[in-house]
Amino acid sequence: MAGLLRHGLRAASPFSWPTPGLKAVRHRCGPIRPAPPVPARASSSQTPGPIPAHPPASSAQIRVQERDYPTDDWTNLTPQILARLDRRLHLQAGHPLSLIRRRIVRYMYDKFPNYRGHPLFSVHDRLSPVVTLAQNYDALLVPPQHPSRKPSDSYYINRTWMLRAHTSAHQIELIQMGLDNFLVVGDVYRRDAIDASHYPVFHQVEGVRLLDAAGVNARWAGSLRDTPIQLFEAGTEKPHKQAGHTVDATQLLEWELKDCLLGLIRDLFGSDLQYRWVDAYFPFTHPSWELEIQYQGQWMEMLGCGIMRQELLHQGGVPEKIGWAFGLGLERLAMKLYEIPDIRIFWSQDSGFLSQFQTDDIDQVIKYKAVSKYPQCINDISFWLPQEGSEYSSNDFFDLVRSIGGDLVEQVVLVDSFYHEKKQKHSHCYRIVYRSTEKTLTQEEANEIHKHIENQATSRLKVQIR
Ligand code: PHE
Repeated sequence: MAGLLRHGLRAASPFSWPTPGLKAVRHRCGPIRPAPPVPARASSSQTPGPIPAHPPASSAQIRVQERDYPTDDWTNLTPQILARLDRRLHLQAGHPLSLIRRRIVRYMYDKFPNYRGHPLFSVHDRLSPVVTLAQNYDALLVPPQHPSRKPSDSYYINRTWMLRAHTSAHQIELIQMGLDNFLVVGDVYRRDAIDASHYPVFHQVEGVRLLDAAGVNARWAGSLRDTPIQLFEAGTEKPHKQAGHTVDATQLLEWELKDCLLGLIRDLFGSDLQYRWVDAYFPFTHPSWELEIQYQGQWMEMLGCGIMRQELLHQGGVPEKIGWAFGLGLERLAMKLYEIPDIRIFWSQDSGFLSQFQTDDIDQVIKYKAVSKYPQCINDISFWLPQEGSEYSSNDFFDLVRSIGGDLVEQVVLVDSFYHEKKQKHSHCYRIVYRSTEKTLTQEEANEIHKHIENQATSRLKVQIR
């Protein structure tokens, strides 16, 4: 059996098993963490001890996104993970995860226009990752004893609240709000080792589309048959359909779902791409599939999807509709698209990494270049531009910097420019980032190059250092 959806390169969505007839691929039996002991409150005369690795239980509260939650014996959220909640990489301008999010949203907007030509899908990319266990599991028909619920696999605030382990956790609430076509983009949290392809936080895009009988018949009007397509019938569950669904309705949804997802993958990676559909299992869809594509000579799962369990639509208050859903991992897509070899790189705040993706053009072809492991030295240079009459352009300065600093210069950016009324002069300030790919560059060495650049800019470009 092929692997199951998981962020990073290794397979296995915890939501995809145990599977009747399919091999369980991941089962770690970590101990359930006991309630942290309640330390005595430090009185003012005591010197405070070291900062505990876990939120102090003395307060029996944990603060998550401006709200206090009582802790209990399931609390296992660490400050390191909590700190990730504010990063919102998928919304950070010029971040690869944000660029790829925009491409997916644009694709879906184009693929599904409404009758006026406007986008049919709404996008929800700011929903809080704090959800109830009921949202993350129960509403999605994940059985009470399902291994994905183990504290060793997810981050719990307490026995009621957790960090979502998948964006599917928002399906029911959005359906209950009356939405038929929507995307959810967000950070999801799963306890895991950290290595090149695994990180306890990653990002998913969820897509959901519901249709009623009128919608189905309008969508496929004129095709195939002259009698209306029925959605429901009393039957038994088969490998290829749910008990209450007709074969016709299931096939039309399957066709549309796969056409949509294959189109998306081709939009991102081009049409001569090797792919295959693999049967899968998720508690909340039936039938279910995964799409695998070739990546570095191996098959890699890109997404999980399927026909939504009719029980979900009953819960959502729309029993007359049927629907499909998918969930895809943004990191995986971005790793392939931008040739980013390690999932940890997405969290880098190093400008050597971020500057490579500083573009507003989401179609720009970007291939990630490894950033030196040695530290940066950052020096600014400010000068008055030459008076009216003598030419100056920033490109002249960039060339001058490169000719002097060579490969030790990683970036040159204009960070400030203004006009001084009294002096009647323009000023520019540039930030120069120095870094060697071979050794640690000392600040003294960087200063020496920087001084040389100042001198040359003065003599050759006729600027006046401020
Ligand atoms: N939520 C599933 C996961 O994270 C993916 C999925 C979404 C599968 C929607 C089917 C439908 O593994």
